Amino acid sequence: MTDMPPKNIVLIGFMASGKSSIGRELSQILSYPLIDTDNLVVQRAGKSIPQIFADEGEDCFRDHESAVLHALIDQKAVRHIIATGGGIIERPENRDLLRQLGYVVWLIVSPSEILRRTSRNKERPLLNNDNPEDTINTLLDHRTPIYKASAHEEIETDNLTFPEIATGIIESGRYFFSHL
Ligand code: S3P
Repeated sequence: MTDMPPKNIVLIGFMASGKSSIGRELSQILSYPLIDTDNLVVQRAGKSIPQIFADEGEDCFRDHESAVLHALIDQKAVRHIIATGGGIIERPENRDLLRQLGYVVWLIVSPSEILRRTSRNKERPLLNNDNPEDTINTLLDHRTPIYKASAHEEIETDNLTFPEIATGIIESGRYFFSHL
C-alpha cells in the first residue's frame, strides 16, 4: 500500500459521513498526515465553528474555508489525506481548488444515519434548530448534485466498515493516479 503518487486524497461529503474517521484510517494505512479543513478554519479564526457562525455568519465561514484551501495549494501539500467540512463544496471556487489538491472522494451516507450520528452533538450550527431532520433533507437535496459534480469517485458507505471503505479508496486512487 505504499506506492501512491505524490498527490492528496480529499474526502468530501455531508456532515457525519465519516470523513474524519475514514481519513484517520487512510492516514494510518498510507502513513500520510491527516489534515482537517474544519480544524484549519478554527486555527485561522481563533475560535470554534459555532462561534464563527455566531459572530461572523456562514458566508465568512466559507471565506475561511476558501482561504484554507488556497493555503494548502500554495504550500504544495502532497501525500496528505484532507478531510473537509460538509459544506465546502457550496462555493464554486472551492470545487475547483479541491480537485487541484488531488483525488476527490465523496462519502455517501443515508439521511437516517446522518440524523442518528448528528443528534449526538451540538457542534454543528446548521443543525441547531427545531427540525434538524428537515434541514438535513433540504441541504441534501441542494448539495447532492454538487458533491457528485465535485468528486472523482463516490462511495456508498452505509454497509461497509471503515477499513473496507479505506481499502476501496486506496485501490481506486491508485488507478486514478496511474491514469493521469
Ligand atoms: C458544515 C459542516 C461541518 C462544519 C460546519 C458546516 C456544513 O463539518 O464545516 O459546521 O455546512 O455542512 P462536518 O462535515 O465535519 O460536520
